[in-house]
Parts: sequence; structure tokens; C-alpha cells
Amino acid sequence: MPRSAIIPIIQLGEEPFASVVCYPRATPDEMQPRIEELRRLEVEAVEFSGKSSAFTLSVLGKGYVGIVVAAHVRGVRLALKMQRVDSERESLEREAELLVKANRVGVGPRFVAVTKHFLLMQLIEGDLLEEWLATHRDKAAVQIVLADILEQCWRLDEIGLDHGELSKAPKHLLVDKSDTPFIVDFETASTQRNASNVTSVCQFLFQGNSEVCKAVADIIGEQNRIELVEILRNYRKNRNRQNFEDLLKQCLARGYSAK
Ligand SMILES: Nc1ncnc2c1ncn2[C@@H]1O[C@H](COP(=O)(O)OP(=O)(O)O)[C@@H](O)[C@H]1O
Ligand SMILES: [Mg+2]
Repeated sequence: MPRSAIIPIIQLGEEPFASVVCYPRATPDEMQPRIEELRRLEVEAVEFSGKSSAFTLSVLGKGYVGIVVAAHVRGVRLALKMQRVDSERESLEREAELLVKANRVGVGPRFVAVTKHFLLMQLIEGDLLEEWLATHRDKAAVQIVLADILEQCWRLDEIGLDHGELSKAPKHLLVDKSDTPFIVDFETASTQRNASNVTSVCQFLFQGNSEVCKAVADIIGEQNRIELVEILRNYRKNRNRQNFEDLLKQCLARGYSAK
């Protein structure tokens, strides 16, 4: 079992913590500037807990770019994304910029602060959508969460911000304890590509063979996939509110009426 612990930053330079902050291996040259950045961010302690693991320690999440942990900042718990030493990114600053853009339309964890190697943001306490679906089988509740996800994707499409990893990445949809869904990880987001968040997320939720697709079909009913393809094509060709609402109705099937 990976270990859980709350570590004050004065102790973060010690192993096994240092090599998670500087994943996958800490050297004094890498560690020193990071500790200074954490001080600037007023991080008091880092919490190693959560369902993922990094070596022997528990963490909230691990991707190719970052390790995410909870951090204590001026008495508040926030999510801290720590850039992996072996990631190809120069810094987390570009991701922060895109997260701020998403926040402007009410999408993503609320941005708090960024330095070269760290991104501080709202902590989403909850589960991945897939896990949430395993324990929430009520059709109306699931329809509300899925409609909210689609609405958030519509808003991102509207501002031309393409998330980039919504079609096959089950790790980027979280649902918090009050059943509010959040899209996370704007690391591969872009304003240069054609924004296809709605169509990508529909693929992930309704058109594939993933566990999420199966659970969704189980709870809200099977999609007519041929009709869905047609409605998605319409939306792609002509992205307007009417076509989006037709899509919502199609995806969420009987019993759901768009606001
Ligand atoms: N704000 C957050 N609150 C809680 N958990 C988060 C938050 N942001 C990310 N995570 C978790 O950490 C994982 C890794 O973060 P992510 O930003 O996807 O890193 P990467 O860019 O390396 O893929 C996510 O899949 C998610 O489970
Ligand atoms: Mg990710």
C-alpha cells in the first residue's frame, strides 16, 4: 500500500518526498529552485494521499506531464500540479494561461497561481466520472451530470479552446462530492486547432466501447448510433445553439429536456 502523509515543505527535500516533487529523480539542482517556488506560492505542506501512486507515496493523480497532490496554502487545501522533471514541457505557464481562459467560461478547476514548475488550482474532491458512474445509477442524476459536461464543452467550443484529450482520456472528467462535473488538464489544450470538445466528449461518452460508454448506456439507455452520427455531423458543419440542443436531446434520450 502506498503511504499517506502530510509533509511540511521544510521536509520535502528528503526522500522519498523529493523524488515525487522532482519525479522521477531528485537532484539538489532540481530541488532547490522548486522549494523556492513553493515558498513563493506560500505552500505550507503537501499532502501525499489519493487513489494514485508515485513510487511508495499516494497522490491524487499522475500523468505524463505532472503529478497532482493536495497542498495546504494559507489554511486552504488546493490542488498542486508538479511538473515532472522528465516531461517535455518547458513550464506549466502555458497550461495556466489556457486554464484561465477556460475559467472565464466557468470551466475547469479555478486557477490560483503558477510558477515554472507548479500550478495551484481548486482541489476537486471526488471521483473520476467512471468511478462516479459505478456508484450513481439514478438516471436523472446522471443526465444532469452529462448535460453539464456537454454544456461545458459547448462553452469551450464557443471560445475556440480545444481541450485536446476528451475523446479517449477517461482521466480528465472528475465529479465532485456535490455531483458537479469538472474538466481537468488543459496541458494539451490549444486555441490554434478547430475546437471539437463537444464531438470528442460525445465519442467518449456515447460512441466507443469504454467502461464509461457501457455504464452510460446502461443507465440512460442505448443510443441510436446512426442518428447520433448524423446529428454530430450537423453540429460539426454548423455549430450553433439549436444544433447543440438537438444533440443534447439525442444524447440524453427520453425524459431529458434541455433548459
Ligand atoms: N484540480 C484537481 N483536483 C483534483 N485532482 C486533479 C486535479 N487536476 C488533476 N487531477 C488529477 O490528477 C491527474 C493528473 O493530472 P493531469 O493534469 O491530467 O496531468 P498530466 O498533464 O500529466 O496528464 C488527473 O487525471 C486527475 O485525476
Ligand atoms: Mg492528463
